Amino acid sequence: MAQHNRTRSAVLAAVLTALALLAGGCAEVGGGVRGTPGASGLRDPYFPKLGNGGYDVQHYGLSLAYDPADGRLDGTVEITARATQDLSAFNLDLSGLTVRAATVDGAPAAYNRAGNELTLRPGEEIPEGEEFRATVTYAGVPEPLTDADGSAEGWLRTPGGAVAVGEPAGSMTWFPGNHHPSDKALYDLALTLPAGVDGFSNGVRTARRTEPDGRVTTVWHTAEPMASYLATVVIGRYETGTATALGSVPVLTAAEPSVAPGSAALRGEVPEILDRQAKRFGPYPFSAAGVVVLADGTLGYALETQTRPVFPAASFDRTTLVHELAHQWFGNSVTPRSWRDLWLNEGFATYAEWLYSEEYEQVPARTHFERAFAQDANWAFPPAAPPTAENLFDPPVYQRGAMVLHELRETVGDRVFDEILRGWSAKYRHASASTEDFTAYAEGVAGRDLGDLWEVWLYGDEKPDRP
Ligand code: TRP
Ligand code: ZN
Repeated sequence: MAQHNRTRSAVLAAVLTALALLAGGCAEVGGGVRGTPGASGLRDPYFPKLGNGGYDVQHYGLSLAYDPADGRLDGTVEITARATQDLSAFNLDLSGLTVRAATVDGAPAAYNRAGNELTLRPGEEIPEGEEFRATVTYAGVPEPLTDADGSAEGWLRTPGGAVAVGEPAGSMTWFPGNHHPSDKALYDLALTLPAGVDGFSNGVRTARRTEPDGRVTTVWHTAEPMASYLATVVIGRYETGTATALGSVPVLTAAEPSVAPGSAALRGEVPEILDRQAKRFGPYPFSAAGVVVLADGTLGYALETQTRPVFPAASFDRTTLVHELAHQWFGNSVTPRSWRDLWLNEGFATYAEWLYSEEYEQVPARTHFERAFAQDANWAFPPAAPPTAENLFDPPVYQRGAMVLHELRETVGDRVFDEILRGWSAKYRHASASTEDFTAYAEGVAGRDLGDLWEVWLYGDEKPDRP
């Protein structure tokens, strides 16, 4: 949705157009639009090919049909986007699957696949600023990705179903899109499954209908902007519970039957934890909430999928629940501009654990800080500069990220620190933000230069002498 930092790519596109004109290499089409292809990646420091240039997605309309018996997915995505340059062609990220057809504004579009890049070339070029609609129809058995750090993500099969998790790149295994956190969009998703198989996604379920062939379709609406890595689908047999949080937010929890009784009490705590976090972080940013608890054996970690985080049963404990719910503010509403800014998610969610423990379990945040300070693994690299993609989810991003915030709190005092936390989540609500946005914002609220603090705690290679 709202994209910042467009100036540089706009300038680049203009330069490329001028060069093409000089070289006489750009065919003039129709009334004189001279489009160029959108970039095939957004040059993320860790994943340069993720995302695509030349357009800004407003909305994804997904229709998915899945058969757990053979693992086959049939999908159509309708993308509503705005061109940010005169476009002759543009890319989507897609891994695996077979593309059957593509259209732009209702007319057939040529398409081509190369690696994880799907290129669509409309019959007519799209002028800068114009909104367009692209559809892609695709099918196949989705294959998960293995990340640089060895963890599995994407479309994962479970006994009798599947779960889709997309951080940082897995969403391209189940739908074509602009898969970078800097392009957030709204979503509507229709999920058609055999009778007796339940399906869940982000947001609120707005419809449930039986198809003429007996399959059942549920429709899910995501009313606030979402980065595609936070999209999820959970398919299988699940037991559900409902509640209300914060006076009006519908809470839907689901648990695989074998872990439903054991997780019921903690699932019941979701409204209270959200109430407590809203007091600390400011208004809850979304119009739906919940959790999904999976049987162990498929997913090795919890993920803060928007409005409805997913957990393997082994990770469904109060600390992890507090962590994933805190991500709804820090990560999901305020989303990292690039993957280098991930500590803005993980450092904040970890600090939310420390704050919760301080306030409700009588363990001072200072104690958590000292424990983290004492562990060598937390000092392997600075939180705002992980050395490689393999290290993105390593302890320094989480624990040293949280130490940055505690150090900030001790430097500016509790009152100003609280104002920074609440103001940060308000100022960048439903937007994308970078590390530099945060340091500038914190200095603005504190009314002083904090350069020494950032240099040592956020960017420094050395462990400071004493906590
Ligand atoms: N972002 C998740 C969390 O901390 C965890 C996560 C996502 C993760 N992908 C991962 C952890 C890959 C390790 C490896 O809430
Ligand atoms: Zn996290």
